[in-house]
Amino acid sequence: MDARPMPRPVGAASSAEDTRTVDEMPLHEVMREDAYAALERDPSATSIWDIVLYSTGTHIVWTYRRHHWLYTHGMKGLALLLAKRTRRKLGADIFPSAQIGRRFSIDHGIGVVIGATSIIGDDCLIYQGVTLGMTGKHGGKRHPTLGSNVMVGAGAIVLGNITVGDDAKIAAGSVVVHDVPCNVTVAGVPAKVVRDRRFSGPRLVKDDFDPTKLDDENVRWSCAL
Ligand SMILES: CC(C)(COP(=O)(O)OP(=O)(O)OC[C@H]1O[C@@H](n2cnc3c(N)ncnc32)[C@H](O)[C@@H]1OP(=O)(O)O)[C@@H](O)C(=O)NCCC(=O)NCCS
Repeated sequence: MDARPMPRPVGAASSAEDTRTVDEMPLHEVMREDAYAALERDPSATSIWDIVLYSTGTHIVWTYRRHHWLYTHGMKGLALLLAKRTRRKLGADIFPSAQIGRRFSIDHGIGVVIGATSIIGDDCLIYQGVTLGMTGKHGGKRHPTLGSNVMVGAGAIVLGNITVGDDAKIAAGSVVVHDVPCNVTVAGVPAKVVRDRRFSGPRLVKDDFDPTKLDDENVRWSCAL
């Protein structure tokens, strides 16, 4: 999964040139991008038809896209009614008012819950059983905000009005209740940083460096700090 490039829809402009938000695009174009994103991320899919015909996760994303369109175009009641039907048929519950960016993928999809005030950036991937929920302690904006290119592993629970930074990974089975910085992996209950990719420059100190072997005491102290 990691080695794969981030999905870019075939035949469309790259995101560097095309900075439109979902709400500025025609619905069919948004859904097309979702399908190609799923194709790039799913090693078991051999063609776009595998996604169109068999990918439950993509079908969940597509139904959400339609419900969100209805919800934001004055048809809230119909959107909620159809969302209820999707819950029963596909086993996922995405509230139509949630705001989800471009090229969104859900793998497998069963048991996904995304609350009403959740915000998800572009190029995010979530797996089955993920909950973006509220703690029950707050009203208003009470669900998480995910940045761009965030991965949330199977069964992870992300609670409250917290922010998960761009390029972060949330390990399967984690419970996240605090903000997550960009470019780290968090895991566990409660989730803690287990990998930090924020510093990628050259190492200044060699692995076998031992400050106690230095002759000069001043240099020794400055290295120890
Ligand atoms: C977290 C994950 C994305 C790997 O991210 P990564 O940045 O490459 O991190 P690493 O694999 O280097 O793991 C870092 C540490 O976290 C630990 N870790 C990884 N996943 C973990 C998890 N789910 N729970 C607890 N600890 C975990 C690793 O053992 C490692 O610990 P160590 O340094 O003591 O060995 C991956 O483990 C994961 O959970 N993917 C979810 C995929 C998924 O949901 N698949 C379902 C498909 S059906």
